Amino acid sequence: MDMNLRKIAMQKELTGNNPQQMLFAEEIAPTKTLYPSDSKREKLEDKFKNLIHEELKLGSVVSYVGNKNVPFLRIYRYKEAFAFDFVMDFLRRFEADSDDYVFDPFSGLGTTMYTSMICGIPSVGIDKLPIAHFISKTLPLLLLLKENELKEIWASLIPQIQKSEPADVALDVPIMKVAFEEETLLTLRKLKSAIDDLSHPYRDILLLLFFSILEECSFTSKDGQFLRLNRDKKTSSPIDAMNRKIAQLPGFQESVQRV
Ligand SMILES: C[S@@+](CC[C@H](N)C(=O)[O-])C[C@H]1O[C@@H](n2cnc3c(N)ncnc32)[C@H](O)[C@@H]1O
Repeated sequence: MDMNLRKIAMQKELTGNNPQQMLFAEEIAPTKTLYPSDSKREKLEDKFKNLIHEELKLGSVVSYVGNKNVPFLRIYRYKEAFAFDFVMDFLRRFEADSDDYVFDPFSGLGTTMYTSMICGIPSVGIDKLPIAHFISKTLPLLLLLKENELKEIWASLIPQIQKSEPADVALDVPIMKVAFEEETLLTLRKLKSAIDDLSHPYRDILLLLFFSILEECSFTSKDGQFLRLNRDKKTSSPIDAMNRKIAQLPGFQESVQRV
């Protein structure tokens, strides 16, 4: 086998034949050359080197893309989230059970905590983003719903929307002036007010769905940590987008049957 073929075979082995990672396999470099010598990062890696090892095969399951068929976790597109199967893998490796406590210091939308909860393992998490905190505390509420309960709440809310006073908008945030069609923004503001009048837990659950439709109703798209404006983007009407979200919600059985 010539040198290149051997290298490609080794990359396939290392990356679990994942084409996205294969692109970067060329760049696999000895860790020591990645940081300035004597950096804190290098010292930490050195201190824990016996505990750290690379498993490039996990690259294909770490990302939120793995949640696209997972009930509830697929509701809000949080690009930085882990995948449900990735967390399950680690809970099994550590043989975690209800006597343990999972701690996630960077909990994002709460995949780790949610997966732990589905497995009956207590957990606690921290995230600096208020939206991440809100989503992770709201996701478990969805498990309290009875079959069709939310559909009924939504059906009774629809006639209230046009009658509601438009909620305030943060017009000091410059992108708010250009992110939405005028009529779309007005409907969103009325929808937000109507949701605010609901009782617990419907208010938070519908607010989560409301946050999850904002991107498709706007001329913006998330690009890493930033919002990119695209005035040619085809946008959704808020009511249609909410209808689709509600229709996609599974029952309790479907949400736990993966375990
Ligand atoms: C990769 S995501 C976490 C994914 C998450 N563990 C899961 O189970 O889906 C990293 C998170 O760390 C949060 N974060 C970054 N710096 C932080 C800090 N200094 N304190 C708390 N959270 C932080 C980000 O807001 C982001 O949600």
